[in-house]
Amino acid sequence: MALVQPLTADPDLDDLLAARPALTMHAQDGLCFEDVPLHAVADTHGTPCWVYGAGTLRARYRALAGALAEAGLNVHIHYAVKANDHLAILGLFRALGAGADVVSLGEFMRARKAGIAASDVVFSGVGKSTQELGAAIVAGLGQINVESAEELEMISAIALRVGRPVRVALRMNPDVDAGTHEKITTGLADNKFGIPAQDVPRLYAHAATLPGIQPVGIAVHIGSQILSPAPYAKAYAKAADMVRWLRAAGQTVSVLDLGGGLGIGYGDEPGMSLSAFANVVKKEVGDLGVQLLMEPGRYLVGPAGLLLASVILEKRGQKRFVVLDAAMNDLMRPAMYDAWHGILPVSATQFRAPRAPADVVGPVCESADSFATGRDLPAMKPGARVALLDAGAYGAVMSSTYNARPRAAAVLIDGGKFHLITPRQTIDNLWADEMLPPLAG
Ligand code: LLP
Repeated sequence: MALVQPLTADPDLDDLLAARPALTMHAQDGLCFEDVPLHAVADTHGTPCWVYGAGTLRARYRALAGALAEAGLNVHIHYAVKANDHLAILGLFRALGAGADVVSLGEFMRARKAGIAASDVVFSGVGKSTQELGAAIVAGLGQINVESAEELEMISAIALRVGRPVRVALRMNPDVDAGTHEKITTGLADNKFGIPAQDVPRLYAHAATLPGIQPVGIAVHIGSQILSPAPYAKAYAKAADMVRWLRAAGQTVSVLDLGGGLGIGYGDEPGMSLSAFANVVKKEVGDLGVQLLMEPGRYLVGPAGLLLASVILEKRGQKRFVVLDAAMNDLMRPAMYDAWHGILPVSATQFRAPRAPADVVGPVCESADSFATGRDLPAMKPGARVALLDAGAYGAVMSSTYNARPRAAAVLIDGGKFHLITPRQTIDNLWADEMLPPLAG
């Protein structure tokens, strides 16, 4: 399982640092992210605090776009909003030319709010409600990726009512194993996603006859945190066969949505090789003469964010526990997928101090509230700070207020300065929208 690291020993702290050029350790200032001392961020805004780097976000977008362009491909990037839906991040990607991939009306409205044109939005997801579809169609969204025959009928009815034709792609389930964690694999026949390949030709032909529907192409998305290009090659080969088959049957196919899923290195291993990925795309679908789209999330934002936390105390008994002020309600991934995240002390002295194994946990009353087991870390006094790395994707978006813990603050670093982009939720705000009914008894 790609998300569950300890197949090998944990990477050393120096190796974690070396693999992340945006992070540097300074003798005085301690750990810096894009040249900003994390101590300064914590002094100003407290912890736990999400810290995002605009330089890293831009660099990752440009690296992906550049690798695709270098392979001679024209691919329009629709950022997968679910990975991190902060308006500041959506706005930053819009400025670089990205569209959006959304899975709810809320995400659609966020993308719009950030200035992304409705026509530059693709709406994915296995269960879009009539209300969501109606609002997005009225607003003039660019494309709906349809996941079932039932949904196609719903869309046709809404498009007729609204009086606006809708461009749809059929999401084909290619039945390919993406080799990732079972909870985030989506392209197997067993998964709830997509339309079985054998049903696509019939449904595509039917779509072409439905009022209000303009079938434009095929979409595939086989999962997330994929580290090898091989499953992509298989899925794209099947998608290409489908496009050729549909055309031979007289259908018009002008779009192929390649999905997302590009994996990142959570330890000191490299993430997906962009050039290898681009070459697979070129080889399998480069000559189809279709507009190519992509829906990457994690690759663009994962390494561009960290969760800054403070040590509440070290509990020493039979086992050593480092208890942080961040918890599973903030960063859910370790509890949910046994995900491995690097943890670095922010102080340079602590970074160099002798280390011993510790379990790093949060204060939430569940044993699942654990960030790391047996991790080599220095002794840390109350108030010492740590950075939980690569938390930019599926971090803040999956957080909750469980245990009545207010949502963490968030900061964006840009050009050597840091800006508060979400203030820490106040305790009062936790119940701000709760109402008390007149009680019967
Ligand atoms: N397109 C579709 C249709 C998707 O379902 C997803 C992710 C993406 C694009 C973006 O995939 P990415 O490039 O980010 O891998 N919460 C999990 C990940 C769930 C991914 C869900 N779908 C995690 O923390 O690992």
